[in-house]
Amino acid sequence: GRRVTVRDLAGAKERGEKWAMLTAYDAMTARAFDKAGVPVLLVGDSAAMVVYGYDSTLPVTIEDLLPLTAAVVRGSSRALVVADLPFGSYQASPAQALESAARFMKEAGAHAVKLEGGRRVLPQVELLVSAGVPVMGHLGLTPQSVNALGGYRVQGRGQAGDELMADAKDLESAGAFAVVLECVPEELAERVTTSLSIPTIGIGAGPSTDAQVLVWQDMMGLTERPAKFVKAYAALADEFDRAAREFTAEVSAGVFPAPEHTYT
Ligand code: KIV
Ligand code: NA
Repeated sequence: GRRVTVRDLAGAKERGEKWAMLTAYDAMTARAFDKAGVPVLLVGDSAAMVVYGYDSTLPVTIEDLLPLTAAVVRGSSRALVVADLPFGSYQASPAQALESAARFMKEAGAHAVKLEGGRRVLPQVELLVSAGVPVMGHLGLTPQSVNALGGYRVQGRGQAGDELMADAKDLESAGAFAVVLECVPEELAERVTTSLSIPTIGIGAGPSTDAQVLVWQDMMGLTERPAKFVKAYAALADEFDRAAREFTAEVSAGVFPAPEHTYT
């Protein structure tokens, strides 16, 4: 079958169908999630933390993310692959944003890009859309602004909720095909979701958004101190620990490899 497109996602909102997005950073996980029917894969700049070991998303570069994006595209056949534009690769100007987005599409085969912010990045969104680049917005807790926000905390409470609503409306008007709402009160997420004709994708935004996204290491139970909004659907940290210990012990004891693992 063909790839999921942004038109399919618009149709899903019209039909009231909810959908899931997961991050992916390599071909094998991309293949597994694609096979399981996850319609949208995000090569998040969360790779800065879960792949590269930084303690924020700020240090990661286009050069870091391009090969991961290419691997996710190669590993999947059905999913729409969205590439995060990293910090510093789009804020300077619309031209910079287009140059960066074009690299993800030409060099890695991404089908869409995501960038953080509302009204401050509207000229970027407009140029990308006019160039034929599907753009996903990202509002609320925008991790690339962690130093300005003063930490990873809930956004959009009180007066800030109206600001976020205005940003969401403007992103829609500028032509964004969807918008991520991260760490916002559920009432605000519901209000934005019903006010927009494009899909909202929640992470820590309650049950009313059109879609939900999680970082795969979080939802598989690999992350040590996950946020409140994370549900672990597996316990991979325990499984990794058990398997690595067992392998280590069996090698030490000379139990592995056994005859069935051995060529004669
Ligand atoms: O980088 C990322 O993983 C993200 C999602 C959490 C939305 O931006
Ligand atoms: Na991100």
